[in-house]
Amino acid sequence: MKTLLFLAMSLSAANALAADAMKVAYPDGYRDWRHVKSMELKPGHPLYESFGGLHHIYANPKAVKGYRTGKFQDGSVIVFDLLEARNEGNALTEGKRKVLGVMVRDKKRFTDTGGWGFEGFAAGDPGKPVVGGNAAQACFGCHAPQKESNYLFSNLRD
Ligand code: HEC
Repeated sequence: MKTLLFLAMSLSAANALAADAMKVAYPDGYRDWRHVKSMELKPGHPLYESFGGLHHIYANPKAVKGYRTGKFQDGSVIVFDLLEARNEGNALTEGKRKVLGVMVRDKKRFTDTGGWGFEGFAAGDPGKPVVGGNAAQACFGCHAPQKESNYLFSNLRD
């Protein structure tokens, strides 16, 4: 009985460790990184339900190198910052943050998802990760066909 209990405890500890190992950190300071591009998805776009609004993409210095060389080193981080788009007085302006999507390069940790860890933070709140262990379905399924370009859609515009 004791052995079983011990086994169960170490298993759940191992699961917790595994979940920890897959964790993607909130990208502190990303607004100081390099702006890659912006885009607005309007009503009627096929991805409007999930990604409607105005998004900006940012890359940390390692990821900037990756965009330029086509090889992303571990530690490259790319952020997809999705805001509500407001149309007022013939101007498009930024509204509230809807979600902050993050991709982190780590070839050893994220072997099931192309060497990238994925996470989304609801309303950009570091305490509200929404993807967790679900990255393969929630994120990678759509990025996977981009294999030729490191599973990325965007290009850096100089
Ligand atoms: C239905 C398809 C789809 C799903 C699902 C999806 N993405 Fe994306 N993602 C895209 C497209 C398309 C772009 C390119 C947007 C652009 O060019 O401005 C993109 C861009 C990105 C980028 C910028 C790097 C790049 O590939 O250009 C990040 C970071 C990102 N997504 C994270 C995520 C995360 C995290 C999830 C899961 C919560 C996710 N994505 C789910 C389609 C998807």
